[in-house]
Amino acid sequence: MKANIGVVGLAVMGQNLALNIARNGYAVAVYNRTAERTKKFVEERVKGEKIFPSFDIQHFVDSIEKPRKIILMVKAGSPVDEIIEELLPYLEKGDLLIDAGNSHYADTNERLERLSHHGILYLGMGVSGGEYGALHGPSIMPGGSLEAYKMVQDVLTKIAAKTEDGPCCTYVGNGSAGHFVKMVHNGIEYSIMQSISEIYDIMRKVLKMNSAEIGRVFEEWNKGELGSFLVEITYKIMNYMDEETNRPLVELILDKAEQKGTGKWTAQAALDLGVPTPSLNVAVFARTISHFKEQRIQLSKIFGEKKMAHVDKSIVKDLEKSLLFNMFLSFSQGLWLIHEASNAYNYNIDLLEVLRIWKGGCIIRAKLLDFLRNILKDNPQNINLLASDLAMNFVKEKLPSVLRVSSIARESGLPTPVLNNSIDYLFSLTEENLPANLIQAQRDFFGAHTFERIDKEGTFHVEWQELE
Ligand code: 6PG
Repeated sequence: MKANIGVVGLAVMGQNLALNIARNGYAVAVYNRTAERTKKFVEERVKGEKIFPSFDIQHFVDSIEKPRKIILMVKAGSPVDEIIEELLPYLEKGDLLIDAGNSHYADTNERLERLSHHGILYLGMGVSGGEYGALHGPSIMPGGSLEAYKMVQDVLTKIAAKTEDGPCCTYVGNGSAGHFVKMVHNGIEYSIMQSISEIYDIMRKVLKMNSAEIGRVFEEWNKGELGSFLVEITYKIMNYMDEETNRPLVELILDKAEQKGTGKWTAQAALDLGVPTPSLNVAVFARTISHFKEQRIQLSKIFGEKKMAHVDKSIVKDLEKSLLFNMFLSFSQGLWLIHEASNAYNYNIDLLEVLRIWKGGCIIRAKLLDFLRNILKDNPQNINLLASDLAMNFVKEKLPSVLRVSSIARESGLPTPVLNNSIDYLFSLTEENLPANLIQAQRDFFGAHTFERIDKEGTFHVEWQELE
């Protein structure tokens, strides 16, 4: 008997994805570079599922029915190219490779092109939901040719998370659309995570709340409009006790945030495409700054003690609204970026579908997505969601709270970069007259870069001062 599909790469994500596929009734061939891991997986985790291990790449390819469908669940970057090179000699025209890692979209374009010369089909597929999602139902974002997608549509929709709006999997679009959308998903993820952390910082330092109290607030919020995976895990984190010290573990974790690159790529793509995603961008810098622990310790001593603002717990309501405001504007910026990329790279992405498949399984799943979909349904051209009364009323209603929270943070000397950038994103976009006229005058002054005028057509340059 041949396997229906193959999975290469048996780190936890690969193992879980293979088990998920097998539990949905498919026979799965599995292969990992180091045989030890394959053996361990089969011995310890496979319990009657149709999973066929291979310890040799040719045997692995031969054990899959034709046309072969092979999911690559290996680390992004050169490991993907290395495994493709290993597989290539044994593949035949019409076989399909699916890269399910967090690959950079430019790499995916390059691989699509390269493999097309061999007649091999290729999908760049974003998968979100971490280890749990891979096993129980992730959000799946495949992009590439529609023909390739059709070959695996059944299995992907079966293993995906489900919501009342269907399986969290859709054909995202052409070329590297799947990986692009997954990348922006992560950019939004960074922004929401950072804004939750900013709110947490105010709770612990200004309101002097302990972790258990903070946990209770997040747990309450999770029942309301803020209901989301990231808010849910936050209250669970607050409640998690370290056995050794009997203290909340979060208080013992070093404040240096790591990153694997998808947030940075999102910011880079936004800069390249000229799309404003300030909240997403500063969330990356916030992680970068966190790394300079030594400097922060030193500078905090020179700066001196920060005096926290005197406020009481009545501002918790304002904190909730601030988080909603940030979440909304993080999605707004991310969607806008996807829209512009879709135009620039001919991805042909349906934003409503993207929001639909983010409703379940993924890290940024949130109740708010239904609200965003309603806004977009009313007007599909509303690509950053703001051009509607519904959206504007939503953010304006939050604004007094947001400004209060921002000023409390300013007064206390606490950084809230995502909150501040979300405010400025809103204020800038809703400002008819920005001071960019002065920038244009300055550019023309020192570099004859020219400017346009508001009172007549054309491009102008003046000698701003007499040259000696
Ligand atoms: C997901 C996550 C996942 C991974 C991130 C973490 O959607 O399941 O985004 O892909 O946890 O890559 O990224 P950082 O290591 O950059 O925080």
